[in-house]
Parts: sequence; C-alpha cells; structure tokens
Amino acid sequence: MSEKKAAGGLQGVVAGQSAISTVGVGGIGLNYRGYDINDLAYKCSFEEVTYLLLKGHLPNKQQLDELRTLISQKRQIPCKLKQILETLPKESHPMDIMRTVASLVGILEPESKPGQEYEISIRLISLFGPALLYWHHYSNSGIKINENTGKDSIAENFLKLYHLKSQIDPLVVKTFDVSLILYAEHDFAASTFAARVTVSTLSDFYSGITTAIGTLRGPLHGGANEAAMQYLEPLRSIQQADQFLNSRYQSKQLIMGFGHRVYKKEDPRSPIIKDFSLQLSKTANGDPTLLAVSQHIEKRMIEEKKIYPNLDFYSASAYKQCGVPTPMFTAIFVISRMTGWGGHIIEQRSNNKLMRPVSDYTGPAKKQFVPIDMRNKANL
Ligand code: COA
Repeated sequence: MSEKKAAGGLQGVVAGQSAISTVGVGGIGLNYRGYDINDLAYKCSFEEVTYLLLKGHLPNKQQLDELRTLISQKRQIPCKLKQILETLPKESHPMDIMRTVASLVGILEPESKPGQEYEISIRLISLFGPALLYWHHYSNSGIKINENTGKDSIAENFLKLYHLKSQIDPLVVKTFDVSLILYAEHDFAASTFAARVTVSTLSDFYSGITTAIGTLRGPLHGGANEAAMQYLEPLRSIQQADQFLNSRYQSKQLIMGFGHRVYKKEDPRSPIIKDFSLQLSKTANGDPTLLAVSQHIEKRMIEEKKIYPNLDFYSASAYKQCGVPTPMFTAIFVISRMTGWGGHIIEQRSNNKLMRPVSDYTGPAKKQFVPIDMRNKANL
C-alpha cells in the first residue's frame, strides 16, 4: 500500500468524507447541507440550523415547534448536577465547566442504547448554557437561578439567565442567535475531527463531546475569540491600536482572530458578524471606539499582511456589546458547535472505520538492548 506523507498539521489532507458542510470550496464560501451561510444567518434561527445539521434537512413549522418544546424541557438542570456545580470554584474557567458538564451528564444520563444521538445532542445544546450560568451566579453571588424561561430560544434563554432580566434588546438577541448559527459547523475543524476520532473507537457520545471541548479551547481554534478580546479591550484609540500592531509585528507574534487554515482570503462569516457588531455599536449600549479600533486593525492587517479576519475577530466585539464577559466567549462557541459535533458523530457512526493513521518515523535506527546495570552515557 502506498503511503502519502502528510504536511505538518495535516494541512490539505483529505481525512474522510462528509455531507454536512462545504468550507471554502474553491477558496470561498460556506454552506451547511447545501444552504449558503448568508441565507441561514439572515433568514433562519439557530434552532432551525440545529435541526438542519442534526436531521439533514430544514424543519417545517410543526417540526420547529416540536424542537422548541423539546429544548424548553431539556434545559432543566438535574439536582445532582446543581449540587456538583455549587462546589466548583468561582475561579474555574468556563471551558472547564463546559467540559465537566458534558462529562457529568454522561454519568447521570449515560448513552444506553443505539439511536440516542439526536436526543443527547438536544439535551446538551439546551443544558450547556443554563448549567454554565447556574455555576456562574451561584459561585459569584450565591444565587440559585431558575433555568426555566419557557419556550425562549437558546439565545434568549442564555441572555436572560446571564443578565437576570426578563427582557433583552431584540438586536442583542438577534446578534447572539446569528453568532450561534455562524459557529455551528465547520467541516473537519480540529475539535470536530477530534470528536470523530474518539467515537471511531466505538467510545460513547459524551466522550466524543468532552474530547471536542478540550480541543476547541486552544487559542488557535475556538479560544481565539477570547484571546482577541483580551488584546482589544485595553485599546481605546487608533494610536494605541497602531502601537499594539507595531509591537506584534516586531515580535512576530500572532494576532488572534486573523488567518485561517482553509480561507486564504475572506472568512465568509466575518462580514456577517461584523454587520451585527457595527449595528450594536450604534445603539445606546454600543462601543463605537471598540469598533473603530477593530476596523483599523482589520484594515492594516489586510493592507500590510494580506491576512483577513476570521469569525472570531468581530465575534469578540459583538459578544462584548451583548454584555457577555470575555471568559465566556469560547463556552458560547461550545453551545453552538455542539450541533456540528452531533451531526458529525451521527455521520461517523453511520459508516464507521477506526481512525488510526501512521506517522513518518524519525527516531533512532534499531539498537542493541543494554541491561540496566550496564547502562552508561556512552551506550544509551
Ligand atoms: N497573525 C500573524 N501572522 C499570521 C496569522 C496571524 N493571526 N495567521 C497566519 N499568519 C502568518 C503566519 O505566521 C505565516 O507566516 P510565515 O509564512 O511568514 O511563517 C503565514 O501567515 C501562514 O500562516 P500559517 O500559520 O502557515 O497558516 P495555518 O493554516 O497553519 O494557520 C491559523 C491557520 C488559524 C492557525 C493561523 O492563522 C493562526 O494562528 N491564527 C490566529 C489564531 C486564530 O485566530 N484562530 C482561529 C481560527 S478560525
């Protein structure tokens, strides 16, 4: 059998087949199950996209209503989970909470028979936000929130529970909902591929998701939205933005929120989230300085480095203007990408083959074994 040497980071390697999304085919565009991301972001809800990714087609009105009812039921936090969340330190990173929640639900409600993937996916999509926010409010102020906000969307439920308000500005809800749609699926991204590798061993669904959450966390993947906000936050003028960029250029450090393994020009999700971030910046609670600084950095990166913003760059300012704290940005990505991970686990299991590549060995040639009492620097 001939073996092709993989480029570093598996760049350009086709690692399997998938019918879920097309990312940058011909260098541009993004489609979920054939639908353009622009149509989905501007004309759909995250719940419709959830159904599309998990079931393979868009829902009709009745199917969507059934899904909304299911979500409202599945957001209930089990008592045992609440008790454990109450013990977790307030200094924990929200991504540790997400990974722990996935693992604990895997113990409390294990996958017990074939065909439960849709139900478990909806359970986690519905529960992740309330569980995170239960921990957040309890650990910071001792408040035990009531996670039940009726048939609210995932976006509205999250924002109401975070802000502890019964009404949220519709533009904030729409922005958050759009961000969930944009983050939902991206082919064999590192976390999705990791989830597929895990379930390819016939491991359980929850193990696939905990693997994926751990992989998403790094700043080269999902953690980039949080990392972008960390450098944007202190920049309160164009001059400060220039100083920041110049020093990064000089030290050859990465600018988080820019560049992409597949899209070498524009990330098609970036103008969509930028549109919403700009709309928010013009409202009473908006931050026009943050947007001016972001646009300036974008302009210079494109002009001087030919590197374009990815989804994470303007998601940072969008989330900030939704009033969400920076450490929660990647955790929100988990809620959204849970849909893509679920779809990919279903697809992997439908035609499973253990994923087990080989490496190009670069170690020493075969050696003579040396018994322990004869080992010295020279013969090891
Ligand atoms: N800031 C500065 N330079 C960057 C850059 C960034 N964000 N992204 C890529 N580059 C540079 C690289 O340093 C490299 O330069 P070189 O050829 O002089 O060495 C060149 O552009 C090619 O990049 P490369 O690292 O080979 O691309 P990749 O496909 O391996 O990396 C990413 C893709 C996403 C890992 C990379 O762009 C990155 O680290 N971005 C920042 C993290 C981020 O935003 N991640 C979210 C992705 S959605």
